[in-house]
Amino acid sequence: MKELKGTIQGIKKTVAVFFGGCSTEYEVSLQSAYSVIKGIDMERYTPILIGIDRKSGQWFWYHGDVERIKEGRWQTKEDCTPVFPSVDRTVHGFCYLDQTDLQTVSLDAALPVLHGKNGEDGTIQGILDLMGVPVIGCGLLASALCMDKDLAHRIVGGCGIRVPESVAVQEDFSEEELFLKAQRLGYPLFVKPVRSGSSFGITKVLKAEQLLAAVHTALEHDSTALLEQMVDGFEVGCAVLGTKELLVGEVDEIELSEGFFDYTEKYTLKTSKIHVPARISSEQAKKIKETAVRIYRLLGCSGFARVDMFLTPDGEIYFNEVNTIPGFTSHSRYPNMLKAAGMSFEEVIGRLMDMEV
Ligand SMILES: Nc1ncnc2c1ncn2[C@@H]1O[C@H](COP(=O)(O)OP(=O)(O)O)[C@@H](O)[C@H]1O
Ligand SMILES: [Mg+2]
Repeated sequence: MKELKGTIQGIKKTVAVFFGGCSTEYEVSLQSAYSVIKGIDMERYTPILIGIDRKSGQWFWYHGDVERIKEGRWQTKEDCTPVFPSVDRTVHGFCYLDQTDLQTVSLDAALPVLHGKNGEDGTIQGILDLMGVPVIGCGLLASALCMDKDLAHRIVGGCGIRVPESVAVQEDFSEEELFLKAQRLGYPLFVKPVRSGSSFGITKVLKAEQLLAAVHTALEHDSTALLEQMVDGFEVGCAVLGTKELLVGEVDEIELSEGFFDYTEKYTLKTSKIHVPARISSEQAKKIKETAVRIYRLLGCSGFARVDMFLTPDGEIYFNEVNTIPGFTSHSRYPNMLKAAGMSFEEVIGRLMDMEV
């Protein structure tokens, strides 16, 4: 431990990389974090790996082999030191116990590579703010707004960008009203938890008979469900990198052959395909990039985010959602869109690390 302390207090910048987390997307985070850590230039940075237990939410400083993060076998007693965030701003880092001595570790920045609740939703960003540690990526407010599909739609829609029509349904909903609301939107429609990710809890509802079950499924993931009009066409994404000056990757396109982009499809691409660049005209791509940048600014994003939209057969762009911590494996959409624009995976990670450090 002492040796490690010596290293981290050297000239290299110390950056905490968070992985795991109390979220349904725990496994996805392990894959993203593994790739990010492998992409860090160790000559310039000392990453401090902080694993978060998926159930208890406990933080551990992980000293073991990075491969074991990918394999989901990082939680061993020998390699994990329990750590505690210090909200004492003279520390701007965390504390741990070395035998009976309280030790502190100062951080220059933190990069949460967590997906979904308790990671991508502003909560960890809030703790890092209290700790006085600069966050790489979106801050508390943008993270919380982007996580809430209803609020994000209201803000973006209120500024003149098309959003699918939707209605929010709370846990104490009346069945009669629910069916009326759904009928007004028309079938098929999408039912989703207002705050979730990786398509967890989402159902494409083709007819009224499926509605109630879909709402209950969504409500297992959140206290509010969203009924959303289905947008015709296909989904396109845009990788945005930066805070003041923005870099935008090539637009990508999700080609579905059936259903929707659900959890299995996202991580196996069995029946769907991702095209990057998207098979659209350069004018359309330009419009999509401009819209993505507007959305990124409207929601107060910083650092990096993936903006997802739908493109209809008439060429209209609809906002879908912003992923403030998108999938980050070397074959994920976000790095691939930047790669298509000429930036290697390592360069992307380098740009991220340089942002706050
Ligand atoms: N309004 C919609 N119209 C058409 N397809 C949709 C709509 N909403 C969601 N989908 C489909 O469901 C998938 C997951 O929905 P999304 O809102 O992006 O949730 P998540 O945050 O889990 O990715 C999308 O990638 C898309 O395939
Ligand atoms: Mg999505």
